[in-house]
Amino acid sequence: MALVPMKQILEEARKKGYGVGAYNVNNMEQIQAIMAAAQKTKSPVVIQASRGALKYSNFIYLKHLMQAAVEENPDIPIAMHLDHGNSLESCKKAISLGFSSVMIDGSLKEDGKTPSDYEYNVNVTRSVVEYAHAYGVTVEGEIGRLGGIEDGVGSGSVHVTDPDEAKKFVEATGLDALAIAIGTSHGAYKFKGDKHLAFDVLEKVRKLIDIPIVLHGASSVPQELIDKVNKYGGKMPGATGVPMEHLKKAIKLGVTKINVDTDGRLAVTGAIREVFANSPDKFDPRDYLGPARDQLAGLITKKMQDFGTAGHSGDYKPIGLEEMKRAYKK
Ligand code: G3H
Ligand code: 13P
Ligand code: ZN
Repeated sequence: MALVPMKQILEEARKKGYGVGAYNVNNMEQIQAIMAAAQKTKSPVVIQASRGALKYSNFIYLKHLMQAAVEENPDIPIAMHLDHGNSLESCKKAISLGFSSVMIDGSLKEDGKTPSDYEYNVNVTRSVVEYAHAYGVTVEGEIGRLGGIEDGVGSGSVHVTDPDEAKKFVEATGLDALAIAIGTSHGAYKFKGDKHLAFDVLEKVRKLIDIPIVLHGASSVPQELIDKVNKYGGKMPGATGVPMEHLKKAIKLGVTKINVDTDGRLAVTGAIREVFANSPDKFDPRDYLGPARDQLAGLITKKMQDFGTAGHSGDYKPIGLEEMKRAYKK
């Protein structure tokens, strides 16, 4: 079994300077697609579920689907990660399901929308760190605020991370990975004009902190996926994402974990729309979920190659939560 604390996957990646994609999932086909890509490219991987995804699956279904991926792929280091936990309670719930990593997004209040203040963020993050580390579970936190509210995560008001505050935050909380805001946002409409990212802020943060850096809202929204969705009846005018060249630069400057949800959604939706448009006689879910799974596996394969994750699944001996627990105690 290669369920590992996310900390190990990210620290190993940081040593060698490559990025690791963290891919959001809601169902079996998405998990299978990620694992097919990880097997093909020999990549470690972070599989992440949002609170919404867990609720959608009655918690227990996604838990077992993720565990099936772990069981079926003993040669791939896999972290099961909670994306955008909003409270100590939501993180406790994920840990009780067997997740090896949680995010506490204390940049927002518990409603997941209202901006919080620094004190609130420190307190809630520190409480999660205390709880999670006792189980050997990794904690990701966030300082600064992403924009973009169309997927229900984010306040809509961007607040680029202050590097000095990031340093203070890491010291005050003892967390394992830090998400920063440098101009990305969630969803398929990230930029109105210039696709500018605050690389200078990333560089400053990198110099000041010594834990892996996370970039949320990192989908590229490839034009060919948008074209396909639109060609087969979708309507997504003006969709834009973060160019792969920007992501490669961000990895070079110190980003280790790259969060991707929207691109996966686009790949799946385009493939399903194509089947429906070309074969209106089809009504077996396997006839459209199968192509959707293949399309997603192809997308993630390419990302694993572009992020530099490919070829690294066998670089290190995966450790379990018990070993991590002991390491935290030292
Ligand atoms: O960052 C948020 C992810 O895209 C998850 O979105 O809450 O709609 O599952 P969701
Ligand atoms: P995208 O919407 O750019 O895919 O970002 C996903 C994300 O940050 C999940 O936490
Ligand atoms: Zn996010």
